[in-house]
Amino acid sequence: MEDKLGLEFLRVVEQAAIACAHTMGLGDRHKADAAAVEAMRREMDTVGMDGTIVIGEGERDKAPMLFIGEKVGLASKHKDTYPAVDIAVDPLEGTNLCATGEPNAITVLAASEKGGLLHAPDLYMEKIVVGPTCRGAVELDAPVKDNLKAIARRLDRLVEDLVVIVLDRPRHESLITEIRNAGARIRLISDGDLSAGIASAVLGSGVHAVMGTGGAPEGVLTAAALKCLNGEITARLVVSTPEQHERLAKMGVTDAKKIYKTDELAPGKKMIFACTGVTEGNLLRGVRFFGEGVRTHSLVLTYDDRQVRFIDSVHLNKRPDAKVRFI
Ligand code: FBP
Repeated sequence: MEDKLGLEFLRVVEQAAIACAHTMGLGDRHKADAAAVEAMRREMDTVGMDGTIVIGEGERDKAPMLFIGEKVGLASKHKDTYPAVDIAVDPLEGTNLCATGEPNAITVLAASEKGGLLHAPDLYMEKIVVGPTCRGAVELDAPVKDNLKAIARRLDRLVEDLVVIVLDRPRHESLITEIRNAGARIRLISDGDLSAGIASAVLGSGVHAVMGTGGAPEGVLTAAALKCLNGEITARLVVSTPEQHERLAKMGVTDAKKIYKTDELAPGKKMIFACTGVTEGNLLRGVRFFGEGVRTHSLVLTYDDRQVRFIDSVHLNKRPDAKVRFI
């Protein structure tokens, strides 16, 4: 599955990124998201798979495309036999980032065999994300200062030299105070804890951990990426209202307080993760338009063969004199 589909999914996230990059800075997050969704949906139907969206734009009645349960891929059009694949998407992670031209907006897709990705509801999730060196060092319910000490020990540095990314939200006031009191440095971000999580698993990115509460779908996508990068996410759904408890029960989740590890969020034995930069970012360049085409920068991860591919693509237009520049 991974060999064949990795590069096909690259095409999907690239086209979604190109489509929404046209809306960068226009101040319209819905337009940005719609552009990414439409392009991703269109491109997905050219992929040789029998795909089912398990994490997408929401329930069928709320989302016209890429809704949960939607069938995608060539199998929906032809009778041939294609591999059955579960798909999680975040067509534009960081809709506001794209709308304002801020860094780290990405288009994202993860795929696995049937049942390989947790069907997480669209709720919040408490998360701690760390890279391979710190796997097993943190616990969701441990005091923040203890987790930071453990991370620092593993990374052979002082707590004061750590950089922790936290979503800039009022709900994180006490978390931010605890991190500051422990002495670690913080990078507050306005959006995008998924791309921050991926960065935390890549040495040299300058990110040592991501802490706090963000989207559960983003949590599953983070797990798919981190599984391929040998990093770790530890997480728990935030369930407060009776309606939310009911929704969870319907989805078969009996223990709402369960702490999930990477392999429980993304249990698949086969895993593909693909993302493309929309705006400039920590790990990926943004989409660049030039007279003769478009340049995109993507990351494609495959679990089975442990391939990590940073892909710099030039999409030349059809002019016969179109040229490629080295840089
Ligand atoms: P969108 O791309 O859907 O706008 O989500 C961006 C994001 O910042 C995620 O990275 C994060 O997990 C979530 O939103 C946080 O949710 P909220 O903005 O409600 O705090």
